[in-house]
Amino acid sequence: MTANVPTLSLRSGDGTIEIPQLGFGTWEIPDEEVTDCVLAALKAGYRSIDTAAFYGNEEGVGRALRQTEVPREDLFLTTKVWNDAQGFDSTLAAMDDSLRKLGTDHVDLYLIHWPTPAKDAYVDTWKALLKLRDEGKAKAVGVCNFKEHHLQRLSEETGEMPAVNQIEVHPYLTQAKLREFNRAHDIVTEDWSPLGARLDIIHDPVIGSIANAVEKTPAQVILRWHLQIGSVVIPRSTNPSRIEQNFDLFDFELSDEQVQAIDGLDEGKRSGPDPDEFNVGA
Ligand SMILES: NC(=O)c1ccc[n+]([C@@H]2O[C@H](COP(=O)([O-])OP(=O)(O)OC[C@H]3O[C@@H](n4cnc5c(N)ncnc54)[C@H](OP(=O)(O)O)[C@@H]3O)[C@@H](O)[C@H]2O)c1
Repeated sequence: MTANVPTLSLRSGDGTIEIPQLGFGTWEIPDEEVTDCVLAALKAGYRSIDTAAFYGNEEGVGRALRQTEVPREDLFLTTKVWNDAQGFDSTLAAMDDSLRKLGTDHVDLYLIHWPTPAKDAYVDTWKALLKLRDEGKAKAVGVCNFKEHHLQRLSEETGEMPAVNQIEVHPYLTQAKLREFNRAHDIVTEDWSPLGARLDIIHDPVIGSIANAVEKTPAQVILRWHLQIGSVVIPRSTNPSRIEQNFDLFDFELSDEQVQAIDGLDEGKRSGPDPDEFNVGA
């Protein structure tokens, strides 16, 4: 059940809302498969689901929301505006399209997917997100893949920082400096590709020895590290037993030494693109 998932407070207009610190990611899960995966995640206890217009699976996520017995108000739903829709009016239209596909009248969190520098539209896109939040179509708004200079520009030009910055974070890319900047500006860090599957981090010997010591799997050790460094974490799996395993993180703790040993694996190694250079859909 969700009772044992801690939450973090997000700025939401004049107030705050709570985001579960553990959610379910859906990137690369095809629309026809995602409904069963989300239902398995909800059965395991997850109450937060991360999708995006770009993932092409918002309709499948929406089917799961209709089929589950979990009431909508108990769920935390995130989607994102894709790069090709950036701009003020086009973002408003993209949100309506996402809400229609998801079959809901609001999301809990709406994010700009990438800064997409070649398009140079993220400030206008951010203004549209603030309007959507003020209209109640998104309870909180944020960004993904923003570096300090992108965040500073939003603040300078609109007076408002995002509530969330969803960025690539895992033991080989700990992003300590950007996470500290986020923290200093009351921005919650949400860690994507938390298992670093493309970098095979689960076979790292340091992770393996900690897993032996705490009698958990390498994936559980990595996910527990994300929780203990204060991030929101959104692992993805299409395998029901791994979906359950990735939720089973709340009956153990890593010691400070174990957290520091994982911190020490940082190599600044990305599995995804550098946000300053990623312009797909511009
Ligand atoms: N904002 C952005 O730009 C952005 C970018 C990337 C991702 N995201 C979000 O972040 C979420 C998570 O990132 P991700 O999907 O890239 O990667 P991830 O969650 O770090 O890893 C997923 C991979 O790990 C495997 N896996 C999952 N649990 C496992 C376990 N317990 N043991 C061994 N292998 C395991 C999965 O395979 P099986 O399915 O076979 O279990 C899958 O291949 C995404 O789904 C998406 O929602 C956002």
